[in-house]
Amino acid sequence: MASSAHDKAFYVTTPIYYVNDAPHIGHAYTTTAGDVLTRWHRQRGEKVWFLTGVDEHGTKVQRAAEDGGVTPQQWVDRLVTDSWRPVLSTINAANDDFIRTTEPRHIERVQKFWEQVRENGYVYSAPYEGPYCVGCEEFKLPGDLLAGTGEFEGQQVCPVHSRPVEQLTEDNWFFKLSSFQQALIDHYEANPDAIAPRSAYNEVMSFLRQGLVDISMSRSSVSWGIPLPWDEKQVVYVWFDALLNYATAVGYGADPASEEGQRFAQTWPCDVHLVGKDIVRFHAVYWPAMLMAAGVPVAHKVFAHGWLLVGGEKMSKSKLTGIAPEQIIDHFGADSFRYYFLRAIAFGQDGSFSWEDMSARYTSELANGLGNLASRATAMVVRYCDGALPTPGAYEPAEQALIDALATLVPEADTAMAELDFATAIGGVRSFIEMVNGYVTDVEPWVLAKDPAQSERLHTVLYTICESLRAIAVLYNPVMPVTMADLWQQLGAESTLGPIADQRIDAVATWGQLQPGTVITKGDALFPRLEESE
Ligand code: ME8
Ligand code: MG
Repeated sequence: MASSAHDKAFYVTTPIYYVNDAPHIGHAYTTTAGDVLTRWHRQRGEKVWFLTGVDEHGTKVQRAAEDGGVTPQQWVDRLVTDSWRPVLSTINAANDDFIRTTEPRHIERVQKFWEQVRENGYVYSAPYEGPYCVGCEEFKLPGDLLAGTGEFEGQQVCPVHSRPVEQLTEDNWFFKLSSFQQALIDHYEANPDAIAPRSAYNEVMSFLRQGLVDISMSRSSVSWGIPLPWDEKQVVYVWFDALLNYATAVGYGADPASEEGQRFAQTWPCDVHLVGKDIVRFHAVYWPAMLMAAGVPVAHKVFAHGWLLVGGEKMSKSKLTGIAPEQIIDHFGADSFRYYFLRAIAFGQDGSFSWEDMSARYTSELANGLGNLASRATAMVVRYCDGALPTPGAYEPAEQALIDALATLVPEADTAMAELDFATAIGGVRSFIEMVNGYVTDVEPWVLAKDPAQSERLHTVLYTICESLRAIAVLYNPVMPVTMADLWQQLGAESTLGPIADQRIDAVATWGQLQPGTVITKGDALFPRLEESE
């Protein structure tokens, strides 16, 4: 396949998470979505760049370190090593890079960026007075706050963190956000898919139409951050440092002839910024305005997914309501975790995790649905054909129905993935699995096996089931790469078709790829029965 060095990579990012504490399943959820999306695109034959990382500066992290009795640098180093990097292996993320905002490459390029914006005339000094939520690290606007209740009666609280905001009075540098109101409105009117889902698009448009006011881009009372190149007593406001990671990590500001500079040319602009709906305004208003101010193209899309809820509220580090990903993955495995969260919650809507629901789906959809199909298929080939995949005879309408269903499923799943509608893509494969299971029940290969006169029919049936499993394995590989590699192994597919990750989505529906004679083995159950938890 010809590929030029100038092919634009499909570039996907997650937010960079605050290292005030260890990750919970909310963070793992966004990263998993990015990982599934980018694995899918790799299997579409595209060049991909998948970035994640951590946000290490700001008041929130600085205070967490103080409370922990260590310096901010010690605090972030420990959490990144002990928790944030390991969680990527726990969920099996295949990210291409991991950025930390304390890295020199980031710091230098952030300074360069703001120097440019200042040169372009969009930065001026002025006093700031107003409310600030440390949980959000956000200068709040009057309409953002709620009246406190209970212990916070009489105070104004942040609607996300349910805690009182702090009143700031500082001499700051301001970013002329107001200059970009019309340009942003025009951009989103011309590109209605640039913010998804629709609810997030509408929220941003109404925020833009209310009018933008200029916003502080520096902090003078904070020390843990990136110094302003022209005023070293101040640091860059943490969001205006963090958002830039998407550009600095892929080489913004590097010499265009260097490897990093070339990476920038090949990845920029970003295709999808995946974020939780808590931080849409930063990504769909402030961030593109910053880029416009610097003369850099803006991202194609910001997708705001919903929240994982605990007791009806957003699961949160600040509120200590987080469930660690290992708590679930130690029991169910990483693949089931990835499957469950993208299958059970419509991407873009809120959802609650429940152990019972996850157990129920694991058993019905994975163990009894797919696992059982695979073990029946491989066991029958081993038993009736000495483990060699038989040559199919003439296809009857029952087989043709599966072949046709697959041909319909593949483009539908691909469209759903392009829209980040993971639940629909997974649900489509799941329906196909049901259909194949129904076919096995109907044609009763174990009955055919008793009649030597039916051996050609038996061979057609067994081949059809295995070939269906071949397609299922490829389609599910982005979601459950470990288990599907196992299934690929059982089907003996690698020897003739190559590694599963190299299988192309656009070729999945081409029937007849498994070669007759291939050695099929019955391995361990793909989704073993789980011990009852206490
Ligand atoms: O906001 N449900 O970092 P953060 C779903 N550093 N997703 C959740 C979630 C939940 N309950 N809780 C967290 C920051 N997330 C900034 C970002 S980007 C330039 C800077 C996920 O540690 C979701 O993606 O608060 C959310 O947007 C992100 O973690 C916030 O992580
Ligand atoms: Mg947060």
